[in-house]
Amino acid sequence: MQNIELTYVSWATTALAVGYAVYLTMKAPSEDPAKKRLNAKIQLDKPKVVDTCDIEDIKGKGVFCRCWKSSKFPYCDGSHNAHNDTTGDNVGPLIVNKK
Ligand code: FES
Repeated sequence: MQNIELTYVSWATTALAVGYAVYLTMKAPSEDPAKKRLNAKIQLDKPKVVDTCDIEDIKGKGVFCRCWKSSKFPYCDGSHNAHNDTTGDNVGPLIVNKK
């Protein structure tokens, strides 16, 4: 009788371990907030988005996007306002003033 109980416990433990392993394998990466993409539309074909702006080219001030939603990236087009309204986030641009 004890061997039958051990067999059931052994099967249950194995099934639990296999089920958990399958869950970890199938779990979508988007469920982990640390692995969620910020950039959903800008130069997605590149491994890294890098932009350069010479300070001499800025007239008065440069307003640069930090939310990755701008259609004029790397410049801010105000899209962060809709993003903040939708998500409750508080992102905004980097403003560089030229004196
Ligand atoms: Fe991205 Fe303004 S649009 S910070």
